[in-house]
Amino acid sequence: MPLHPMHGPNRFKLGVFSANADGGLTLTRVKERWPATWQGIVEVAQMADRAGIEFFLPIARWKGFGGEMNSREWSFETLTFAAALAGVTERIALFSTVHVPMVHPVYAAKALATIDHASNGRAGLNIVCGWNPEEFDAFGLTMIEDRYAQGLEWFEIMSRILADTGPFDFDGKYYKLKNVSGRPAPVQRPRPVTLNAAFSPPGRDFAAKAADFLFTTFTDIDKGRAQIDDIAARVAKEGREVGVYTTTHVVCRPTQAEAEDYYEHYAVTMQDGASVDHYMGAKEKFSGSHDAEAYRLHRKRFAGGAGTYPLVGTPRHIAEEMVRMAAAGFAGTTVSFVNFKDELPYFIESVLPLLRDAGLRVQ
Ligand SMILES: Cc1cc2nc3c(=O)[nH]c(=O)nc-3n(C[C@H](O)[C@H](O)[C@H](O)COP(=O)(O)O)c2cc1C
Repeated sequence: MPLHPMHGPNRFKLGVFSANADGGLTLTRVKERWPATWQGIVEVAQMADRAGIEFFLPIARWKGFGGEMNSREWSFETLTFAAALAGVTERIALFSTVHVPMVHPVYAAKALATIDHASNGRAGLNIVCGWNPEEFDAFGLTMIEDRYAQGLEWFEIMSRILADTGPFDFDGKYYKLKNVSGRPAPVQRPRPVTLNAAFSPPGRDFAAKAADFLFTTFTDIDKGRAQIDDIAARVAKEGREVGVYTTTHVVCRPTQAEAEDYYEHYAVTMQDGASVDHYMGAKEKFSGSHDAEAYRLHRKRFAGGAGTYPLVGTPRHIAEEMVRMAAAGFAGTTVSFVNFKDELPYFIESVLPLLRDAGLRVQ
């Protein structure tokens, strides 16, 4: 079985997040905002692949966020996305972000096994239980109180199919299934690498039971350590190991002033204000994806990168921030840009060597 990139040698791993959606993670009106054309996405995936970046992670969206741009209404579906990228990349892990309530686990298992074969063992699954009522409405679904109880049943069904141990019946609260099976088994055994994107305590408990890695937000690097300790305690109760990844948006420029000026320009002056109001309002009410104080203090971060942590400055500043993130206990982070194709090359050529010098990466 080939070594999955998420188990590779780099101490601090990197992923590219949300290149499948227009605007990436931003809510901005600048003309250079990411258009998410298929050709552009392929170029970015190949660039990340050649640079040894570990994973390519799409966002799962079924509705846009309104305002002038309706950002992320244009977004590619993530299972078919990963399958298509398998043929044009060589090393990078290809995640799919799958909504538990919208995608049946029998379907998800077969789709994931297909991607794993097409990519020779590079598939990954990011399990999301959903938070946006407008998306549930679009499917005619009601958001249930205990999303993670359904998530656990979903995960068990999918995992049992992928383990290929023979047909089974499943009699749960959310799924009642007869004589379930699915082949081929995936290349990765017993199943592809899983992430779970969550922040709340129930989300952390779910990751402790069902994920190899938790994908989560933080507000201050210094407080990250406490968050990781809390997650580690939950994971220890399950007797498992779960690494913690986080997520950032990046503006990397030769000088600090250039980077900060551009951040102010796209995330404040040119922010898509109505969509930022809509997004922050809905996220705060329904998701629990962030620390409560993030909504009060960090509107700019929501316009700049969906409330993720900003890495804004020179290559040295960004590398130093990543060193602090690694010291806090994060196993890696995703990066996103206003325009992935224009900005990823400078990040690769200027930040990656500094991470090597700092001992965080060997490539
Ligand atoms: C880093 C991160 C990435 C996420 N990515 C997605 C996504 O692509 N699509 C989605 O619908 N929800 C996404 N979510 C939302 C979560 O799946 C989850 O529904 C939300 O965080 C609410 O659950 P929680 O309160 O347990 O965190 C993400 C959350 C986090 C923290």
